[in-house]
Amino acid sequence: MTLKVGFIGTGGVAKGHITNLAAIEGVTISAFCDLQLERAATAAKDWKDAKAYSSITEMLDDRKLDAAFVCVPPMAHGEAERALIERSIPFLVEKPLGVNNELPRQLAEQIAGKGLITSVGYQWRYIQSLDEAKSFLESGCIGMALGYWLGSMPKVPWWRVQHLSGGQFVEQTTHITDLLRYLCGEVVEVYAAYGHRILHELEEGANVADVGTVTMKLANGSVATISNSCMLPAGHKTGLNVYTGQGVVEVQSNGSRIVRNKEEAAAPFALTPNPRVFEDIAFLDAVRTGDPSPIKSSYADSLKTHEVTVAANLSAATGKPVKL
Ligand SMILES: NC(=O)c1ccc[n+]([C@@H]2O[C@H](COP(=O)([O-])OP(=O)(O)OC[C@H]3O[C@@H](n4cnc5c(N)ncnc54)[C@H](O)[C@@H]3O)[C@@H](O)[C@H]2O)c1
Repeated sequence: MTLKVGFIGTGGVAKGHITNLAAIEGVTISAFCDLQLERAATAAKDWKDAKAYSSITEMLDDRKLDAAFVCVPPMAHGEAERALIERSIPFLVEKPLGVNNELPRQLAEQIAGKGLITSVGYQWRYIQSLDEAKSFLESGCIGMALGYWLGSMPKVPWWRVQHLSGGQFVEQTTHITDLLRYLCGEVVEVYAAYGHRILHELEEGANVADVGTVTMKLANGSVATISNSCMLPAGHKTGLNVYTGQGVVEVQSNGSRIVRNKEEAAAPFALTPNPRVFEDIAFLDAVRTGDPSPIKSSYADSLKTHEVTVAANLSAATGKPVKL
């Protein structure tokens, strides 16, 4: 059976998923929705019998879909998810789940009530070598983790505005926070310090913090610090290192390695060139079979990552540690 898929939001990240789906057997994209209808129409041209819409309900009333991809910016969540939940249509939604906790918590309850299959765009979890790294960490005692997302400001217009994107920690560094949870377990307390150094002078309308560092305590007694900056002229480094008595796990955006000695410290990372393709395959397999087990990041689990990042924002604003 060929799965019929719809897209809500057809900007930058949607293009990545669409390219992946074009190479996966047994799936077709039959509907594209974007507030900017011309974007949806451009995407629809490449797919047989696909239609473009500017209204989510019009799209869902017109086309019978087996699954949907929600690729809207952080402040635009809500309408799409509610419409999909109401119609019991499984969906993959891009991170972050929103800009605060209220809406994602409501949606998580509704999703659980329906038992709906969901996936969230935390594609770092699908780095193939991560399974081995995770087993290695589970067999020893994790001491601490250091994570970082150091780069420049993404140019999409909503990103620089705090109430539209949630800021860098919620919007971008959420990937590293999610990886920390995936590899090391739950975060129980955060303390954050953010700064506004130069971005607001360089980029019109920018009011997000351009540097920040977040210290975390984990349930297992380990500690972590994740730092981010978006004030650099170009991308510098993204990743997470986890330190144990038996060695170090190093993860970058498309690969990981375990370093137990000097030889392994000189070895290359085991790369997964496009982890998102495995995320998409896992979601579509789950939809096809009704078995969600291939999905590494459900809405309910991702909500916990999101709550950690929102707590970091709260801590930075109040100057106080926040318990989760
Ligand atoms: N997983 C990843 O690594 C990754 C990478 C990039 C972006 N993202 C996430 O994907 C989301 C979108 O990012 P992007 O770079 O594609 O942004 P974008 O601005 O390029 O595209 C967003 C599109 O959504 C449309 N849109 C906005 N509100 C809508 C609504 N209510 N209904 C229908 N369409 C709507 C906009 O018109 C736009 O075309 C963001 O949350 C971002 O964090 C994830």
